Amino acid sequence: MDFKEIDFNELWKRAAKQTGPENGIPGKHSWDKRAEKFSQRLNRAKKNKKLDKEDYVYKMLERIEVQTGQTVLDIGCGPGLLTLPLAKKARQVTALDISSKMLERLKNDAANAGLSNISYVNSSWQKAFEAGMVDSHDIVVASRSLVSGDIQEALNNIARIARQAAYLTFPIFHLPFDFEVYEAIGRHGDNHPPYVYIYNMLYQTGIHANLEILYSKVKVQFYSIEEAVNTLQSRAEPFTGCEKQKLHEFLEKKFDEQGESPFFTHEGRSEWALIWWRKENLQERYYKSH
Ligand SMILES: C[S@@+](CC[C@H](N)C(=O)[O-])C[C@H]1O[C@@H](n2cnc3c(N)ncnc32)[C@H](O)[C@@H]1O
Repeated sequence: MDFKEIDFNELWKRAAKQTGPENGIPGKHSWDKRAEKFSQRLNRAKKNKKLDKEDYVYKMLERIEVQTGQTVLDIGCGPGLLTLPLAKKARQVTALDISSKMLERLKNDAANAGLSNISYVNSSWQKAFEAGMVDSHDIVVASRSLVSGDIQEALNNIARIARQAAYLTFPIFHLPFDFEVYEAIGRHGDNHPPYVYIYNMLYQTGIHANLEILYSKVKVQFYSIEEAVNTLQSRAEPFTGCEKQKLHEFLEKKFDEQGESPFFTHEGRSEWALIWWRKENLQERYYKSH
């Protein structure tokens, strides 16, 4: 079989369906629910002021090259872990997210930081591209946000509108605590769709992208077993009654191990595939076909 004939988009869709909640398609509702958690992390990061060098956000900001006069589109921006620091560097940033709750938090923080160069698009990237709601930007970022749907369509649109460069990240191994949980309840790990499918889709369209594996530290904190169960549940297909019982037993042990502490903390590592390209480095044939 010719490599060009392999439908990596279909393989991605199939793999995405087998993982994550709602058959791998977390919708607006589930992201709205997670907005609170994301914001807490952001606030903790703000308190620490300086980002840990092992932190994902620190690593990404070191890699995304933005000049003062440039524009940035942040797809699936969330509460703005990247959007806010990027807006401090760039001329203008478009923050796009399916979750209005995520955008509310970002707007609030942007106002507090005195940033007025961010425009907001509350939409899925699918609708935004289809309806032409987003136009060309110098830099396009899609960090941890391209999970489900027609990824080929997303890649085609990103390649079309990124005037200078695009930076996309995909999970390889995320929140190791989840893996322990999966084992404890008797499931076989939380597999993310292989990032190489994305790399191959780009290759098939003539984009020879750069690939870097980012290793970062993660810390998760839960104040109660209930909170832990709910958070972990939001990242997986619904637990069965038997799984829930096993999870409770596992978490009780974990909380006990923390002694007097009012919360349970787990520190672990996550791995992300950063796939990026600069347009100036693309082969001529890419331009000929697009
Ligand atoms: C894991 S968060 C990443 C946030 C941020 N980019 C970061 O790296 O910190 C994923 C974000 O993508 C958004 N999202 C998920 N699916 C989306 C879609 N189809 N269109 C637009 N945004 C989406 C979610 O609402 C959420 O804010």
